[in-house]
Amino acid sequence: MGERIIATGFKDEDFELEPKLRPKNLENYIGQDSVKNNLKVFIKAALQRKEALDHVLLYGPPGLGKTTLSNIIAEEMGVNIKTTSGPAIERPGDMAAILNSLEEGDILFVDEIHRLNRMIEEILYPAMEDFVIDIVIGKGAGARSVRLDLPKFTLIGATTRIGLLTAPLRDRFGVIQRLEPYNVNDLKTIIKRSAGVLDVGIDDGGAEEIARRSRGTPRIANRLLKRVRDFAQVKYNGEVTLEVAKHALDMLDIDKAGLDTTDRKMLLAMIEKFGGRPVGVETLAAYIGEEAETIEDVYEPYLIQLGYIQRTPRGRVLTRLCYNHFGIACPDNI
Ligand code: ADE
Repeated sequence: MGERIIATGFKDEDFELEPKLRPKNLENYIGQDSVKNNLKVFIKAALQRKEALDHVLLYGPPGLGKTTLSNIIAEEMGVNIKTTSGPAIERPGDMAAILNSLEEGDILFVDEIHRLNRMIEEILYPAMEDFVIDIVIGKGAGARSVRLDLPKFTLIGATTRIGLLTAPLRDRFGVIQRLEPYNVNDLKTIIKRSAGVLDVGIDDGGAEEIARRSRGTPRIANRLLKRVRDFAQVKYNGEVTLEVAKHALDMLDIDKAGLDTTDRKMLLAMIEKFGGRPVGVETLAAYIGEEAETIEDVYEPYLIQLGYIQRTPRGRVLTRLCYNHFGIACPDNI
């Protein structure tokens, strides 16, 4: 399915994660305590002043709930949300049309905001700062610029790559919050809640095993829960226990640390071809047949969090922990 310029619902790629698994308010949103507590204050203050919330930038690895949180902010503010994404907006006119369709207090959610092109970004500057857009009418000598007033709206931008945002855009967000990978306990709570929503029985050991192998990511936790449920239903008595979870996750080739085949392929290439010494991300990408950007956004954050790899100016290096994970003797220089 192609990307839609504007959508009020959920993104295609998240479709699998049924909206009902997503919490609808901050009360039911588990983890990210610091982000949540800060947002509670900003939302309450804006509501008391009867103002739109200041523009919000959410960043962090994929799957941690940036979209979910944006929808929750809309719910808590009692306003409409329109959703789009950086790559979906190709022409300045598209962005102008979206901005022009907003009502007072509305939220515009722009996912992957680092992928907006420069011309479109420039429309956002005055829109964010002064709630106006300048549009050019006509062509050539007869062209003139018309300034349109916009309602006071809130832009929520989400990105996995804050470093790729231009400074002028970044500086126009009043609230900048980083989402962190979830700990096992929070993931367990999310998995149990999701199991309730999906009406599948789960015990503590089953929830913990899935949580441990979900790389700190609710989206992955929910996906694994659904696959483990399939095993529970077909091969067992329907209940997700420690035994069922272990069996299912082994069958899915997700190891005890939550590494999948791509993670292992990449780490083993680093061990076998490079002896754990520095290697550039482009080289790694070529070895495992993925984009460098995917390695940086999706694979690497968790491997760094686990302490298996480190970023150095000369490239990615392996640690002893990584060698230990594979039960491979670590070279003395590491
Ligand atoms: N589902 C996905 N993310 C969640 C979260 N942070 N809290 C509760 N349920 C979730």
